[in-house]
Amino acid sequence: ALIGKGNHRHFMMKEIAEQPTVIGDTLQAFMNPLERRIQLPDLPVDLAGLSRLTIVACGTASLAGHVAKYWLESVARLPVELDVASEFRYRQAPMDPDGALMVISQSGETADTLAALRYAKSLGQKVLAVLNVPESTIGRESDVVLHTLAGPEIGVASTKAFTTQLVLLACFAIAVARARGVIDAAREAELSSALTELPARIAEVLNHDVHIREIALKVAEARDVLFLGRGTSYPIALEGALKLKEISYIHAEGYAAGEMKHGPIALIDENVPVIVVAPSDELFDKTFSNLQEVMARGGRVVFLSDADGIRKLGGQAMAAVELPRVDPFVAPILYTIPVQLLAYHAAVAKGTDVDQPRNLAKSVTVE
Ligand code: G6P
Repeated sequence: ALIGKGNHRHFMMKEIAEQPTVIGDTLQAFMNPLERRIQLPDLPVDLAGLSRLTIVACGTASLAGHVAKYWLESVARLPVELDVASEFRYRQAPMDPDGALMVISQSGETADTLAALRYAKSLGQKVLAVLNVPESTIGRESDVVLHTLAGPEIGVASTKAFTTQLVLLACFAIAVARARGVIDAAREAELSSALTELPARIAEVLNHDVHIREIALKVAEARDVLFLGRGTSYPIALEGALKLKEISYIHAEGYAAGEMKHGPIALIDENVPVIVVAPSDELFDKTFSNLQEVMARGGRVVFLSDADGIRKLGGQAMAAVELPRVDPFVAPILYTIPVQLLAYHAAVAKGTDVDQPRNLAKSVTVE
């Protein structure tokens, strides 16, 4: 079927706007609606006995894996190894016989991810694939497919595929935690309802579009942009930088907030916007002190936080976007939306080809 842009100028914006719907669809596929209990399909591995999960992917999909690593380690107490496929496949990594491989891919056709899968299979690993296109090469060669229901993604810069990957991986982490006996029913119910509320919370963030566009117009004037975050906000900082450079061609770097003092702080002056991903969570105060170091050096901070965080900051930032307060577990999913919108509007302001950025392809089948 021919897919149109609806009322949107670009597929990317249409796909950003679809996120409440496709996240709801993906959740429904993994959550029993009556009991709100997460249910995975039958898996080829015993989650309780698993010694380690190795997650391999490319590009934005690898950043979904990066968030999943934090979730699986902190919530499910499962050791996770993470690498980009183009490195993993050449490392000759020994693989634990009681471990398993997880690959994450929108297209299911990425050559490096496929090669990493074949390497792990040759060592006897079972393969779980998180895919948006189950009838793909990776889908056919995996032991089980966990299907994100993002629907066809046309924009080269991944948006709804990423957030549906995150939602699916969050469900996976909860299921692993239950199988390993490390989560109680009350906490599981809390996490499940935080996920269930996400489509509504995301719709609220999409309503800030006009405000985010105003900020993006300022960001679009910069030559370099820095994104900072800690914990699960760190991969979102990486994703924000990746999105911005892919479609606006502005040089952007994502950094762990605590690593800033070991290098990027040297770049900071009044010409470098610093986008800080900072939901109110147990790491907030640490990130906040990194932010004060930035402001002390004249850096122009764009602060993404909730009402509590913004109150703490006072009027010191160049700009702030107030997001709804959510359980920190789901914050990386929610905070993806403003970084997508920032990149989108900066690219539109620069007049680039948003859906087909130069030198990039939707699916990379060369190594
Ligand atoms: C390309 C796309 C990215 C994507 C990456 C991995 O570089 O432009 O948006 O994240 O490939 O693709 P996959 O289909 O494996 O998720």
